Amino acid sequence: MKNPDDMSFDEFDEYINPKPEENDFDRIVDRALSRRDLLKGVVAFGGVAAFGNTLMPTEAIAADSRFAFDAIAVSTADGISVPAGYSAQVVAKWGDPLWSDAPDFDHVTRGTGASQAKAFGDNNDGMEVYPHGDKFILIVNNEYCNRGVIWGNREEGKYANDDDILKGMNAHGLTVVEIEQEYGAWSIVKDSPYNRRVTPDVEMDVTGPAAGHALMKTAADPEGKVARGTFNNCGNGSTPWGTYLACEENFNGYFATEDQEHPVSAEMKRYGISPKGRGYGWHEIDDRFDLAKEANEYNRHGYVTEVDARDPNSRPKKRTALGRFKHENAEVVVNGDGRIVVYMGDDERGEFLYRYVSNGVYAPGAETDSLLEDGKLYTAKFSDDGTGEWLELSPESTGMASMAEVCIHTRQAASAVGATTMDRPEWVSANPKAAEVYCCLTNNSARGVKPNAGGDETPVGGPNPREANKYGQIVRWRPDAADHTSNSFSWDLYVLAGNPTVHSDLGAGSENVNAGNMFNSPDGLKFDSNGMLWIQTDGNYSNEKDFAGQGNNQMLLGDPATGEIRRFLTGPLQAEITGLTWSPDRRTMFVGVQHPGERGTGHWPDGGENSTPRSAIIAVTRDDGGLVG
Ligand code: FEO
Ligand code: CA
Ligand code: CA
Ligand code: CA
Repeated sequence: MKNPDDMSFDEFDEYINPKPEENDFDRIVDRALSRRDLLKGVVAFGGVAAFGNTLMPTEAIAADSRFAFDAIAVSTADGISVPAGYSAQVVAKWGDPLWSDAPDFDHVTRGTGASQAKAFGDNNDGMEVYPHGDKFILIVNNEYCNRGVIWGNREEGKYANDDDILKGMNAHGLTVVEIEQEYGAWSIVKDSPYNRRVTPDVEMDVTGPAAGHALMKTAADPEGKVARGTFNNCGNGSTPWGTYLACEENFNGYFATEDQEHPVSAEMKRYGISPKGRGYGWHEIDDRFDLAKEANEYNRHGYVTEVDARDPNSRPKKRTALGRFKHENAEVVVNGDGRIVVYMGDDERGEFLYRYVSNGVYAPGAETDSLLEDGKLYTAKFSDDGTGEWLELSPESTGMASMAEVCIHTRQAASAVGATTMDRPEWVSANPKAAEVYCCLTNNSARGVKPNAGGDETPVGGPNPREANKYGQIVRWRPDAADHTSNSFSWDLYVLAGNPTVHSDLGAGSENVNAGNMFNSPDGLKFDSNGMLWIQTDGNYSNEKDFAGQGNNQMLLGDPATGEIRRFLTGPLQAEITGLTWSPDRRTMFVGVQHPGERGTGHWPDGGENSTPRSAIIAVTRDDGGLVG
């Protein structure tokens, strides 16, 4: 058994909620669908003429390509590769000081609590760049820290004192920083009045149905309306009124207590709250995170937090109307009638997809504060026949006492209405050129093997067609009548990732996967302004066995119309590629590189045997100065 400190979030979920010795799921037989049958059944909206997006044979792909680059090969090198005619440069790295009174990053000590509070956070993920007058404001999630990296100066990569814990805490949250481009190169503007760190200690308002509910009240906040901190933000969203949405994901692992017999309620178990914790140590320096000292703090995390990056004095707002779960990202769509629709995934094995629909409508310049407070929450149910429906989560439909309870115990609410258990929904992205929405289902070792943490079955089928799914897939759905508020939709799989050099069954993937473009574990996902789909991976980078020939994590571009997928970028050793946005002129694409060297052998981006690997944001440009998406 691994030390919890060294586990991935997914492994930690398994550790605190292990598979029973023997259960019905163990006896589910392999359905042994052939690859051909699968494609007939679920891949492509076969013959749905109105959709116009059926997967085409390879010859059709080659004849009409919308790709502005030649595909690149996989890589096992400790660096970034992009196609010929493109260049990449590092913009900002973990530990870069945002103010001139903070020290440069120290590769030996890896900083202190105080230096980290004034520096770019760790493990950057979702991000946006907002224009503001003639300035450019970058806001980015700093999801978490790798204990063996941030405390790599200590024995066994574990904190040695309270300041080490504080350093880790301050590496979390959000970084807001002005960036500028000089002679083609982007860099941080130190001392900009827009620079800001939103750490796990910053005060923020709780809004929406859960604000003030008894489950939200703590010793420090008897009203249940003012929380401190946002952390483990993974993907993001952006509103048409120019605010940023940070999405709190694996918030559970920060809560712990000394007594390992501390009782774990059903509510705690569903969200993975356990006395074990994941080794961050926060409960040792802040009572909020000690389960024995504060019973409700964990109900105040797992939300979407709205932040105005252009106003360094603005108070972030936790938007409880968007539900509490392990949020991946929040894809905001303005529906034809002006209502705001937000699509969201809950990234845990066998958890659900969600949709929020505002009651009010968006109008530029009008009041927007109620749009993410006042609305209806839904969860998705997929049928095997390629249709699906959104089921409303309300006190009536779930049997819960109030909407507040629905917004706090959202997973249980979705279980109550019979939502479809999914293969770890990661980023959702909506096509700006068509009424269709895509979501990465990254992988799911528990599919068909055991129920989710709430006891819901995880049968093989529908959009989750492979037992113990190793490679992941991308599902897409099309709302009926092109209306994102419609409660019915049709769906298919855009791609089933796989390895056709190892497998000839379902493990080979769908027809648009081949030896030249294969990948595993799609995670980050974003449409560009041309309606092309960028796919980022957070997968197995062993390059062995099931993953032989797939190399380091990567970013690919998919054409929704033809199904063609080409590899655009490969990342350094042990890194994940996650987070994607553009400069307002679309001549720079910003890409996130997270946890390089997490297993201890990488030294990107600074290189050399003695440098500490650092998560970073890179800028990708065309050498001819052309548009990049
Ligand atoms: Fe932070 Fe689901 O990835
Ligand atoms: Ca992710
Ligand atoms: Ca992932
Ligand atoms: Ca990650």
